[in-house]
Amino acid sequence: MRNKISIIGAGFVGSTTAHWVAEKEIGDIVLLDIPATDTMPKGKALDLLEAGPVLGYDTHIVGTTDYKDTADSDIVVITAGLPRKPGMTREDLVGKNQAIITDVVNNVVKTSPNAILIVVTNPLDTMAYLAHKVSGLPRHRVIGQAGVLDSARMRTFIAQELNVSVQNTHAFVLGGHGDEMVPLVRYSTVAGVPITELMPADRVTAIVDRTRKGGGEIVNLLKTGSAYFAPGAAVAEMVEAILKDRKLILPCAAYLDGEYGLKDMYFGVPVKLGRDGIEEIVQIKLLPDEQEMLNKSAELVRGTMSALKF
Ligand code: NAI
Ligand code: 2OP
Repeated sequence: MRNKISIIGAGFVGSTTAHWVAEKEIGDIVLLDIPATDTMPKGKALDLLEAGPVLGYDTHIVGTTDYKDTADSDIVVITAGLPRKPGMTREDLVGKNQAIITDVVNNVVKTSPNAILIVVTNPLDTMAYLAHKVSGLPRHRVIGQAGVLDSARMRTFIAQELNVSVQNTHAFVLGGHGDEMVPLVRYSTVAGVPITELMPADRVTAIVDRTRKGGGEIVNLLKTGSAYFAPGAAVAEMVEAILKDRKLILPCAAYLDGEYGLKDMYFGVPVKLGRDGIEEIVQIKLLPDEQEMLNKSAELVRGTMSALKF
């Protein structure tokens, strides 16, 4: 039987995620949006379906405004919500997106009680926490996407700086999905060589800084919304890792219960993704200054979480 992947929110990130996932042929896709969007999800789904013959994929894709069509999904990706506009912080989004995530998660647990949830909506760590609380699902089945995107941005900048293939690059960006995220320089390499040995310290600092502000850089360029190609690709990699049971270690937002000295919050850490979702939270030894940066990032996330109203 084919896997079923539902994507809630058929906007920029949702439809782009559907695009990357469709090409991977790892399951059939349901693209859902609110009734007010009328037939829009159907239109996007049909358009993507009609790309199949050209690109050679047999993925079935349907668009809908009815949760019945998402029933018994293996994975539900949640992109429903408002994107960040210029001048708006991710934190500004809490109030509006809390109502949306609560509505979506209540519908999803009713129709797909066995699904693994991947949350994308911002502010990411706070919305993943909310989804975990509202759903009542075990923590290994509620995952936030941020670290794969943030690390991809850092890898792009490293590859540009050194004029090497992105395939040679590796980067680990941990912490909250905000301007205090923690790009771990020590674990960022090109063909296994730490970047600190390959470029001057000021260039490393510039890359770290640009990575931290990567989301804002795109917002300022687009002017009407936020990034979607790279976020969609990041989600597709996570979906693939889960459905293919790859045991792939990726930085994702996970519920922490003491790991990295943090409790009762979602936060970006290395996790092993397989068919059960988060199969392990990988604990790497941090230097005191790295742990300090993580703590600072955690403070920022807690500040955002305090805007949640229960
Ligand atoms: P968008 O506005 O293009 O799409 C959002 C869609 O959600 C809209 O089509 C809207 O009708 C739908 N929606 C609203 N309420 C809904 C509900 N109750 N049920 C179902 N659908 C609903 O926005 P975009 O660019 O797709 O961004 C979506 C979210 O993802 C934003 O919160 C954005 O900040 C976040 N994001 C997170 C990233 C990450 O790395 N975690 C990266 C990029 C965006
Ligand atoms: C990003 O990092 C907006 O969180 C989104 O692009």
